[in-house]
Amino acid sequence: MKATITLLPGDGIGPEVIEQSAKLLQTVASRFGHDFTFNEAMIGGIAIDKTGNPLPDETLRLGEQSDAILMGAVGLPKYDAAPIRPEQGLLKIRKHFGLFANLRPVKAYPVLADFAPLKAHLLEGVDMLFVRELTGGIYFGERQEQGDGNSAYDTELYTVPEVERVAHVAFRAAALRRKKVTSVDKANVLAAMRLWRKTVVKVHEDYNDITLEHVLVDSCAMHLLTRPASFDVLVASNMFGDILSDEASVLAGSLGMLPSASLGDGRFGLYEPVHGSAPDIAGQGKANPIGTILSAAMLLRYSLALETEAQAIENAVEAALATGARTADIAGGGPWLSTSEFAQEVITRL
Ligand code: IPM
Ligand code: MN
Repeated sequence: MKATITLLPGDGIGPEVIEQSAKLLQTVASRFGHDFTFNEAMIGGIAIDKTGNPLPDETLRLGEQSDAILMGAVGLPKYDAAPIRPEQGLLKIRKHFGLFANLRPVKAYPVLADFAPLKAHLLEGVDMLFVRELTGGIYFGERQEQGDGNSAYDTELYTVPEVERVAHVAFRAAALRRKKVTSVDKANVLAAMRLWRKTVVKVHEDYNDITLEHVLVDSCAMHLLTRPASFDVLVASNMFGDILSDEASVLAGSLGMLPSASLGDGRFGLYEPVHGSAPDIAGQGKANPIGTILSAAMLLRYSLALETEAQAIENAVEAALATGARTADIAGGGPWLSTSEFAQEVITRL
C-alpha cells in the first residue's frame, strides 16, 4: 500500500528515536512491499527556536496531507519559565486533529522481570491498556496565571459527549481483550469526576458483556503496584491518565518502553512514545528507541490497518530483548547497546 507519514522529531532524544523508527518503517515497507513517503516537520522547542511558534502552520499542513504522524518528544529546559513553551505545540496538535483518545498499552516483559523493581510474581500476566482522554479536562480548561502573581487556577471541565466518546473507545477495546474496564476518577471530591462516573455507567449499558469497575485515582495509584495483573482496560481523564501511565511504565521495566497512539474519529492518528525529551541524555546514544518503535507498530495497526506488519515489529522487539539486547535504561548496570545498535537488532529480526 501507499502511505504518507509525517515525522516530527521534536526535542532532546526525539530526533534519535525518530531516525531509528523511520529506518525500521522503511525496512517494513521494502520487506512487505509497501510504498511509504516520509515528510519531516518541526514541533516543540526546535520550532520555537526557528519560527517562534511551537506548532508552525507548515507542520499542520504536512500533517493534514498525511495518513499518520510519528512524533519523538517535545520539551527543552531553557523554555521552562518562558511564556511560549514547547509543550503547547503538542497540546495544540492533539486538539487540531481531534485526537481525543490516547491508547497506552503497558505490559510486563518476562525477560525483564529480574530488572523491574517489583517482585516478579506481581508482574506475571501484566497486560493493560490505558485509554486516556486527550483533548479535554484540566489541560484545556480555563486557566489564569497573571493577575497579582499571588494566585493561579486551572479548570477541570468535562462535557457528557467528551466522556461518552472516550468511554466507547475503552469498552470497544475491552471487547477485543479480557472484557474488563476500570474507570478512574475522583468522584468523592470533584464535580467533573462525578459527571465522568455517571456518564461511564450510562455508556456501559451498551456493553453488557464487559465488566465495569470504578476506582478512585489515589487508590488506583496503589492498586497498579499491588494487583497490576488484574487490570485490562483503564479509562481516565487527561491528567489522571498522564500520571498513572508514567507510574505503570515501571511495570514494563522503563518509561522508554511505552508507545502510544492518539486517535480521533477516523483512521488518522498521532503516534509517540510516552517518555519525554530527556535532554539530560540527548545525543549520547542512551535513548531507548522501543517506545517509538512500538508506536510505529501502532501506527501500522490503527492508521494503515497493517496488523501483520505491526505484529512483526512487536515480535522483533521481543526477540531482540530475548537474546539479551538492552539499552542503557534497562541494562541494570550491565552492558548496553546504543539507540541505533538496539534498533538495528530489531531491524535484523524483522
Ligand atoms: C505526555 C506528556 C505531555 C502531556 C506533555 C509533554 C505536554 O507528558 O504525552 O504524556 O502531559 O500530555
Ligand atoms: Mn506524560
